Amino acid sequence: MSNQFNPLNEQQLSALSSLSAGLNREQLLWINGYFQGLLVSSGSNRAADIPTTTKNSKYLKILYGTHTGRSKTIAGKLAGKLAERGVDVQSVALDEYKTRQLASETNLVFIVSTHGEGEPPAMAEDFYSFITGKRSPQLPNLNYSVVALGDKSYKLFCKTGIDIDQALAKAGAKSILPILTLDVDFEDEVDLWINQFVNVFAELPGSAVSDSTLPANSLQINQYSRKRPFRATVIDKVKITGRDSDKEVYHVELSLEGSGITYEPGDSVGILANNPPALIDGILRQINVSGTEIVVLKEGEFSLQEALSDRLEITVLNREVIQKYQERTGNTKLLEIIKNEVLLDQYLYGHDVLDLLEEFPFQFSAQEFADILRSFPPRLYSISSSQAAVGNEVHVTVATVRYSHKGRERAGACSTYLADRIDIDSQVSVFIEKNPAFKLPENDETPVILVGAGTGVAPYRAFLQHREANNQKGKTWLFFGERRFHSDFLYQVEWQNLLKDGYLEKIDVAFSRDQKEKVYVQHRLIERQKEIFDWLNNGASIYLCGDMKQMARDVQKTLLQIFETEGGMSEEKALEYLKTLKKEKRFQTDVY
Ligand SMILES: Cc1cc2nc3c(=O)[nH]c(=O)nc-3n(C[C@H](O)[C@H](O)[C@H](O)COP(=O)(O)OP(=O)(O)OC[C@H]3O[C@@H](n4cnc5c(N)ncnc54)[C@H](O)[C@@H]3O)c2cc1C
Ligand SMILES: Cc1cc2nc3c(=O)[nH]c(=O)nc-3n(C[C@H](O)[C@H](O)[C@H](O)COP(=O)(O)O)c2cc1C
Repeated sequence: MSNQFNPLNEQQLSALSSLSAGLNREQLLWINGYFQGLLVSSGSNRAADIPTTTKNSKYLKILYGTHTGRSKTIAGKLAGKLAERGVDVQSVALDEYKTRQLASETNLVFIVSTHGEGEPPAMAEDFYSFITGKRSPQLPNLNYSVVALGDKSYKLFCKTGIDIDQALAKAGAKSILPILTLDVDFEDEVDLWINQFVNVFAELPGSAVSDSTLPANSLQINQYSRKRPFRATVIDKVKITGRDSDKEVYHVELSLEGSGITYEPGDSVGILANNPPALIDGILRQINVSGTEIVVLKEGEFSLQEALSDRLEITVLNREVIQKYQERTGNTKLLEIIKNEVLLDQYLYGHDVLDLLEEFPFQFSAQEFADILRSFPPRLYSISSSQAAVGNEVHVTVATVRYSHKGRERAGACSTYLADRIDIDSQVSVFIEKNPAFKLPENDETPVILVGAGTGVAPYRAFLQHREANNQKGKTWLFFGERRFHSDFLYQVEWQNLLKDGYLEKIDVAFSRDQKEKVYVQHRLIERQKEIFDWLNNGASIYLCGDMKQMARDVQKTLLQIFETEGGMSEEKALEYLKTLKKEKRFQTDVY
């Protein structure tokens, strides 16, 4: 054996040489591209990891900013396609990219999502501040394209990508293709865009794109996805809030038997539901059709009844739907709402498609009506189990959405699908949504502080199951908040057992309605501030999961307050400390 570095064993080497024997140049190039694509999609994003394909080709660098991993997946797909065509391509995470390199770049693609309320994902924060800030350089030699991921139900749709696109245009960079903004159901659009991009890029001077025609799906790994979900069987479903609770939370267990699906604590499961039958009936009555009319959607032909049940979103409105509805109906009262941001925001929360039909009536044909609606996106649920403990099962913890508005009882689509329309032995369409930004520390000994309210506790059940299954008794501290001890202490017995067995070291609870004064998790954090600061100083990671609007904001404010009081930090220093924790992946959030 030579002492040269060789990562392959003899068997692999022999397989590789028999595979490559007799291949022509084009075939070798294809294989090179294939492996490069695999490397990129396997998660390696260090520029130095990726070999150059064609010495004389121009680089194309893909910079991605992601929270839940979709932007990274698209980056991998684009890189694979370009590599197959002989382009020298690298895919780099935005938090690993040195902004000083920008001025010397020639071809960049940005793939970036928006989170929070119009904010960049944590890994893109520094780049975003730089490119939209005063110190961003002029970039006259840069060709670029932006793919912006978002969700049209948020007010600031795709803001991060849009801002980056505008900043680059302002810096004098030339766009290869106009910005692509993607709503959650983006698979087809992305595939089309990638093909278009590869062709347009081929025309750019100096860009090496070979003409080889390649199998379109050569890099697709056979796995379940939102487009190709797995039919999981419900093995258990239990209501875990008490009879006198004003909340309704279900623990649901699904079997993944036979799917080969794997997940990690911190990931979410996507569920494709159907809509509440009462709402479908109301809509059909209001537009005065039977439901048997055939409508054409992008997935094919369906009866209107079927489309309203499984394919179109009707429980929630967004800006685009209201806009389309107004354009089709010409309703001036609705136009007044659209023109007033405050009224529009109010209208969007708590109104559904039937409200539009009742308040701004119009005689639609079935097809016209279907064309206005958004396709029905799956809902995500933090996984509350660990495969190390439950094997081929996945558990979720679901709070049912029910409310009454304008004299009509309303029901959230997916949460009531799980609560009312499925039972043990039913089958549910699911896929796993990876969440690399919400993971237990690599070192099992690292202490963790877990802060969650309501169903925000779900991933912590997974974290602790994982530690228990692997017999890791490191320091773990749970802060849990809900309304009432008596009826809302989710998984109380499990936490007690974990405490008893030493897998959970401490638990602090806040039941907001058990006393006159409201007590929330952030109040418990303040009470324990000295110890929390000590834990963090000793390397602990802190996690936050649950409601984005109120709880997450209050907890972050409280943490800053703790850093100021216990660490003697100024306001700026406290912010910097929090930022450093985020950068070191020691402060991770999963809020919704
Ligand atoms: C990463 C992630 C993880 C998640 N994890 C969990 C989890 O572990 N458990 C969990 O239960 N949920 C979780 N969610 C939320 C979940 O995905 C759904 O959003 C939630 O179940 C509601 O979906 P739905 O289809 O039942 O309701 P929808 O049909 O989406 O209806 C929701 C809409 O109803 C209206 N509405 C709701 N309540 C009221 C009210 N009181 N007054 C007026 N209007 C109201 C609002 O317009 C709201 O937008 C998570 C979300 C994300 C993004
Ligand atoms: C808590 C949360 C907040 C979000 N906020 C926004 C937003 O303000 N604007 C937007 O367009 N999309 C928003 N989104 C949608 C994401 O951008 C979308 O899910 C995207 O596909 C995620 O891509 P990623 O996996 O690369 O991060 C939000 C999603 C979550 C879970």
